[in-house]
Amino acid sequence: MTDISSTPRSNQRKPDPCSFVIFGVTGDLTHRLVLPSLYNLAATDLLPDKFCVVGVARKGTSSEALRDSLLKGLRQFATRPVDDAIATRLLECVTSIEADPKDPASFDAMRERLQKLEANRSTGGNRLFYLATPPNAFAPISRELGRTGLLKEQNGAWRRLVVEKPFGTDLASAKALNGELLKIVDEHQIYRIDHYLGKETVQNILVLRFANGMFEPIWNRNHIDHVQITVDEKLGVGHRGSFYDATGALRDMVPNHLFQLLSLVTMEPPARFDAHAVRSEKAEVLAAIQTQSETDALKNSVRGQYQGGKIGDAEIEDYCKTKDVKSGSTTETYVALKLAIDNWRWAGVPFYLRTGKALGIKRTEVAIKFKQAPFAMFRCTPVDRLSQNYLVIGIEPTEGIMLQFNTKVPGPTITIDGVEMKFRYKDYFKAEPATGYETLIYDCMIGDNILFQRADSVEAGWQAVQPFLDAWKKAGNKRLESYNAGSEGPAGAEELLKRDGRSWRKLG
Ligand code: BG6
Repeated sequence: MTDISSTPRSNQRKPDPCSFVIFGVTGDLTHRLVLPSLYNLAATDLLPDKFCVVGVARKGTSSEALRDSLLKGLRQFATRPVDDAIATRLLECVTSIEADPKDPASFDAMRERLQKLEANRSTGGNRLFYLATPPNAFAPISRELGRTGLLKEQNGAWRRLVVEKPFGTDLASAKALNGELLKIVDEHQIYRIDHYLGKETVQNILVLRFANGMFEPIWNRNHIDHVQITVDEKLGVGHRGSFYDATGALRDMVPNHLFQLLSLVTMEPPARFDAHAVRSEKAEVLAAIQTQSETDALKNSVRGQYQGGKIGDAEIEDYCKTKDVKSGSTTETYVALKLAIDNWRWAGVPFYLRTGKALGIKRTEVAIKFKQAPFAMFRCTPVDRLSQNYLVIGIEPTEGIMLQFNTKVPGPTITIDGVEMKFRYKDYFKAEPATGYETLIYDCMIGDNILFQRADSVEAGWQAVQPFLDAWKKAGNKRLESYNAGSEGPAGAEELLKRDGRSWRKLG
């Protein structure tokens, strides 16, 4: 039996013994993120002492070949230097199994092998099934796991199902998938991953709001003018043409990543820092997003598609010329939306969201714009305007918090300028570079689903974006704007705020 523990270096508790079963083990996600995260957990002694990794693929290889391929991936994608002893101990836990949901007998055989392995490794029957597969495999695999009883919690052993994004492609499909899964397992067994919740800066939003006395009293419509959420990316669609063309910027980013940011910024304070209380408040606020009519959805949205251009030294070709993208595609690579949250805290405060590919800058941030101070007392001075008050939560590339406020410029006359007060994580904390999946995987193993999406949140997210999907489908290429790769995005995005007398915070 392999014991992969080393000297404990952390005061976090170790997860229970378990088997970690990865479907889609030969894929990119496993090599790029899952294995490097398991490695980082092993390096910090946060894997169970009794542990086994089972790699499942439709066309299986030998365990040796799988270990070689995972080691190659680890060397390529590890976030810290690979210590051979730790990597060897981790990879010794790996076994390859072939199973295809189209062949039910292969799942029966898998159950037999898994049970033997579990007995060998004394994992106590605790199991985590990680679906790192294309989304169309989520339901078929889960059905087979259900049929073979592999997901049934019994004799004190836990059974968990980790589902990657995208969870559905619209409201109806998300509901159908939830329905399917909930026939097989209970909600507490499902871990719907959104990797944004693995980011420290995203987790910090709750701490910023609720562990400080000064923000919460002004965190409402009386003091906040509007909120901007930006996730701008430099990368184009690259080799993901086929997935992206069927998906588009809105489905790819908004109901999941941007709504995670939105819900953390807007939720009410939960009574306790636990999964039930936090997830309930998040679901509540997402359900309070006004569902727009299709006419309003068209008015309150901007879609763009990039054309060729230069980003730094890299030439990016037209989106429509990307491999596996249909020529004449109307898929958006940029979206900007205006949303409203219809509750007592937020009524009347607009939320502007934007995200796009192939833009001139990579930036993820939430900018909270406070109401303007009255100007009257400065009328008799040379001051002609006040700059804006923003609290900015920087997620990428700068991780930190920034407060923008007005200050007097030193000198005999009254002159005012906007200045910035900055907190950067890296100035205060030293953290080992990580994939962002470590906390998520660790939490799955200890059974804490605070950082995972609950069925009601997922559906509330799709509910809010469904009118945009419907309206755009009918509109075809009407009002689909184009923008140059390397630019700030389509002109319409500026207009969306300008017509309300506002503008996007300048990035970079
Ligand atoms: C993924 C999307 O979920 O998130 C990608 O499918 C996107 O298209 C990525 O690039 C962005 O993640 P991050 O962490 O780089 O902001």
